[in-house]
Amino acid sequence: MKIMITGGGGFIGQKLARKLADIGQLNQREISRIALADIQQPDPVIASMPVDYIKADISNKSDVAALFSEEVDVVFHLAAVVSGEAETNFDLGRRVNLDGSINILDAAARQTATRGNMPVVIFASSVAVHGGEAPELISDGVELNPQTSYGTQKAMIELLLQDYSRKGFLNGRGLRLPTVTIRPGKANRAASSFMSSIFRDTLQSEHANCPVTRNFPVWHTAPRTVVENFIHAASIPAANFGYNRNLNLPGRTDTIGEMINQMTEVAGPEAEKRITWNRDPQIEKIVMGWRGSFRPEKALALGFAADHSFADSVRYFLEDDIA
Ligand SMILES: NC(=O)c1ccc[n+]([C@@H]2O[C@H](COP(=O)([O-])OP(=O)(O)OC[C@H]3O[C@@H](n4cnc5c(N)ncnc54)[C@H](O)[C@@H]3O)[C@@H](O)[C@H]2O)c1
Repeated sequence: MKIMITGGGGFIGQKLARKLADIGQLNQREISRIALADIQQPDPVIASMPVDYIKADISNKSDVAALFSEEVDVVFHLAAVVSGEAETNFDLGRRVNLDGSINILDAAARQTATRGNMPVVIFASSVAVHGGEAPELISDGVELNPQTSYGTQKAMIELLLQDYSRKGFLNGRGLRLPTVTIRPGKANRAASSFMSSIFRDTLQSEHANCPVTRNFPVWHTAPRTVVENFIHAASIPAANFGYNRNLNLPGRTDTIGEMINQMTEVAGPEAEKRITWNRDPQIEKIVMGWRGSFRPEKALALGFAADHSFADSVRYFLEDDIA
């Protein structure tokens, strides 16, 4: 089977590609080819099967048509302009997160219509679709009420993914990711970027600022867990999703203070001393609009994996990203 990852040069896209290359099969079918598509040239991945590295802009229809020139069986649609950037640059966020995602859905639907091979499309949504007047604890079925342009664009694609699936245009699954931490590499323009940098950078002897207070609650998941859940999403029979193909993924709620304590437990007290505490009203406004507590019963019933502690996430980071 052929797999495509849009945003295949990004943080999760690269980890997902490495994992798929490593396991070599999906749903008991051998992976014959992986295509990594990104607006920036994706880094190479060690694999026994051929891997295509494709520079493509999903907001450009002819780039997207070219991505589907060969049949694709499973699409992990991860390409996006992240939250902070989509908020400051509305036009870019709308063009990529909304129009670009529609281009991917339409190309997948065209494949179904012209070749009779309906692709599974797994969409990286976000808990940023929730907020506003939603309850503090989000259970399944709570009305979407995004408080950012990014969250709104994700919510709009969720609705289309559901409708395209209902119509039999594609076989969609939308996963609302918690904040994925600890993210390796450099800080990005996500409003949640500090939720990684205060661990990642301080564990590597650098300073990092925390723009919110210690008691700020974070709904988070580890990169290893989210990759496992993307792969799991491809294996669930469509009928098991019932009437909604989109769901909240499992995660954990810890306050920033609790997360720092767990980092200290694993890696000692030095890292915390490198955190500065200067509040940033702009970041605070965005992240306060998100929810910190979820009850993802549907995802758990469907067998998605949950995190057991943030200490595990620190250990994974040291093993996977520092070593
Ligand atoms: N990391 C998180 O905490 C988190 C939380 C919730 C949702 N998500 C979602 O998960 C997905 C992956 O997130 P990530 O953390 O790996 O982000 P990332 O920024 O590392 O990766 C996104 C990739 O998309 C690419 N991209 C941007 N515009 C593009 C375009 N026009 N055409 C093609 N590629 C383009 C970027 O170059 C980047 O490599 C995104 O859709 C994001 O919204 C992530």
